[in-house]
Formats: sequence, structure tokens, C-alpha cells
Amino acid sequence: MSKIISFPPDFIWGAATASYQIEGAWNEDGKGESIWDRFSHTPGKVANGDTGDVACDHYHRWREDVALMEEMGLHAYRFSIAWPRLLSEGRGRVNPAGLDFYDRLVDVLLEIQIEPFVTLYHWDLPQALQDQGGWPTRATAEAFVEYADLASRTLGDRVTYWMTLNEPFVSAFVGYLEGRHAPGHSDLDEALAAAHHLLLAHGWAVPVIRRNSPDAQVGIALNLSGQTPASSSAADRAAAWQRDGVVNRWFLDPLSARGYPPDVVQHYGRPMDFVRAGDLEAIAAPNDFLGVNYYTRGVVRSSVAPEAENVPQTVFPNPERTEMGWEVYPQGLYELLGRLHFDYRFPALYVTENGAAYADQIGPDGRVDDPSRVAYLKAHFTEAARAIAAGVPLRGYFVWSLMDNFEWAHGYSKRFGLVYVDYRTQRRVWKTSAHWYRGVIAANGVVD
Ligand code: FCB
Repeated sequence: MSKIISFPPDFIWGAATASYQIEGAWNEDGKGESIWDRFSHTPGKVANGDTGDVACDHYHRWREDVALMEEMGLHAYRFSIAWPRLLSEGRGRVNPAGLDFYDRLVDVLLEIQIEPFVTLYHWDLPQALQDQGGWPTRATAEAFVEYADLASRTLGDRVTYWMTLNEPFVSAFVGYLEGRHAPGHSDLDEALAAAHHLLLAHGWAVPVIRRNSPDAQVGIALNLSGQTPASSSAADRAAAWQRDGVVNRWFLDPLSARGYPPDVVQHYGRPMDFVRAGDLEAIAAPNDFLGVNYYTRGVVRSSVAPEAENVPQTVFPNPERTEMGWEVYPQGLYELLGRLHFDYRFPALYVTENGAAYADQIGPDGRVDDPSRVAYLKAHFTEAARAIAAGVPLRGYFVWSLMDNFEWAHGYSKRFGLVYVDYRTQRRVWKTSAHWYRGVIAANGVVD
């Protein structure tokens, strides 16, 4: 392996997972039901009827998984805490066994010098809170603060890096508008209220985490992707800007004390009467970093102008796609990081998720060879290095995912892991990309 591109000396290389996608043990040791338990147990919601009941059985095999991370040389591990494992009803009575699980995990990670990056909410809302209205209800944001307080009081002496939420866009709009994710609703007013209460939960939790964990670095992880107009026509440019507003600016702007973007407020045309005095100030609590989840870009064609009357399309997506059907567009990472730094000025950025699903298989020789994933990661790491060279304060990079896991509505049909999981036996098999990534970390740079 020869090194092609170097990273700064203190650059943090990691891998990411999320509680519902890996833990299993969905009803063990006092854990309460989450909206994803309920959703996946509802026929027709998840491909092949898959559920996270067992997933990667990480709840029982976590020591083995931590050993994988150590062998890979990871500097950091991003995982999420299952809220209903700590508070089975969402608030109130604490479940000590749930706390113990994360307590031990954190201790063992620190013992082997892997820095925990904790996400408090990666979509597994306690069902009890959904029964009381879920994220469209303001009380859910209040409950989140109690949970954030509990988690940071317990782990804050050892955990430095905290993310309040993972991808509030997806929680709100895929969960409450598109209905493809739990709780599976289709209501724009609910989705808008959910997005607001998620942002509010974040803003309220930031000072609480700081109080409990004085050295904490606190941030949030957003799904972000550039939206390119399919042609230079005014209609396509307007459509792309609108999409950018829906996906990116709706979250970036209020977090950066700019309020909700007026063009998108107008586009939704809803009263937004859930916004109360003081909310926007709370949401704008300064962050120490922004977590960037990047997979692809959007190429946006206007649907206002009928296709026949539209100007010819001039921007064509790369035909190379991952198993998710997502365009492989590495330059989008460079463009996005640059925009986030030069337009929004977050003190630090981390790529908190980037990776690709491919149809991996164990070969006759027992190996899992995934050259497409190696190529995908290599190209994206290279773009990250370019961004750093351009002055972007990118401090770390987390590959999604450490191992194959439950890919939400796709169940186990999409494999994002560096490590292959044989779900019948729970055997873990290193893919070529895992070996390659170990080389990247060891060299602190992109290797051949
Ligand atoms: C992101 C999620 C993560 C994983 C990847 C593929 O939107 O945060 O849990 O499913 O997509």
C-alpha cells in the first residue's frame, strides 16, 4: 500500500452505527418499546418483514464488536443510545440495566483509547411518547431534555463528544410526511411541527449537556446534500433552490441563528403556529461542531414547467449508483464542506456518516471482496482532503457503517458495513474495505 494523500496529524478516523440498527435485544433487561419496534412489527412496513428484534445482536456481542474496532485501529466510534433502554416510558423511571450497558461500553472504549462519539437520538423514540403525540407535540422536546440530562449526567464525566440528534429531516419528514419510516404518518403539519420540536429539543439540550459535561463538544448530525439544477433554466434553478431549502436550509439556517428560510416558509404555506417566543433563540444555541452525513447529491428538474416545454437537461448524473440507487458523486462532499464552512462558519465539522451499500457476498474462498466500496471511500476521502486543503476545519471522518445492519425500511437487504454480518450465525467477516480502511488509518492518509 502506498500513500497518496495525507491528513492532518490529529485527524480522527472512525466508524458509525445506531442503536436500533445493531443492538437487537428489543425487549430485554427492562427496555421499553420504541417507534421502530412498533413499526417493524407492523406487517408491510419493512422489506421482507425484517425487524430489529435481533439485528447484529450487538447488545450481547458488543465486546466482540469493540475488539473489531480495536483491530481496525479506529480512533473513535460513533454510536447512539436507545432512549427507551434508559427510560422505558420515555421519561420518569430510570432503567439501571440500560444505563449499565452504555456505561460499560464507554469504559471499555476508553480503556483501548477509542473515543466515544455519542448520538442521543437516532430515531428510536419511546413508543410511550409517540402514544402521547410524538415529535409533533412540544412535550416530546421537554422529555428529550430530561433524557439528555440523564445520559450526560451519567456518562458526561467520560464522554466528550455529543450529538443531540441524527438527521432531524429524516425523523420529521420521512417519519411524519412520507410515512416510509416510523411512526409512518403522512401529514405535512405534523412533519413541520415535528421538525420544529426536534430542533427545539436540540437547542434546549445543548446547555444541559454542557452543564453536566464541562469539557463537552456538542453538536448535531444533519443529512445534507447539494441540489444541482438539471439545466440552467430559471424553472430548474428555482426547483433546486427550493429543494435545497427543504433538505438543507430548513435545518442549517435556524441552527445558525438565521431563523427559518422565508422562501421555504412561503413554499409550505402553513401557519407555523407551533413556533413560540424564544424558540428560535433556543434553537440557535451555539454548537461546537456540525456532523455531516453525506451520501449523494440531488439533480433537480422542475415539475412546474411541463417536460415538453422545458429546456433540455444539461446536467447528467453519474450513471454509477450504489445499491440504494444513490448517485456516486464524491465532488459533492467537497462542495458541501466548502459551503458549510464559508457560508455557515461552524467552528468544526466532522463527516459523521459516509459510505455505500453494495450487494456483498461471501466468496468461495470465504472472503468478502468489495472493490466498489473501497473506490467509493477512496474518492470521498480524497475530496475531504481537498476541502481541508482549502481551509475547511474538518476534524474527523466516520464511515457508515462499522458492520452490516438493519437498514430501516430496507431491512437487511442493504449492506453498508466494512464488516460483513452473516445474520444466520452472527459471524462477522472483514470485507476488503475493512482491511483497506485499517491501512488508511495506519497511514493517516488515502492509500492505494
Ligand atoms: C442515514 C442514517 C443511517 C443509515 C444511513 C445509510 O440516513 O442516519 O442510520 O441508515 O443513512
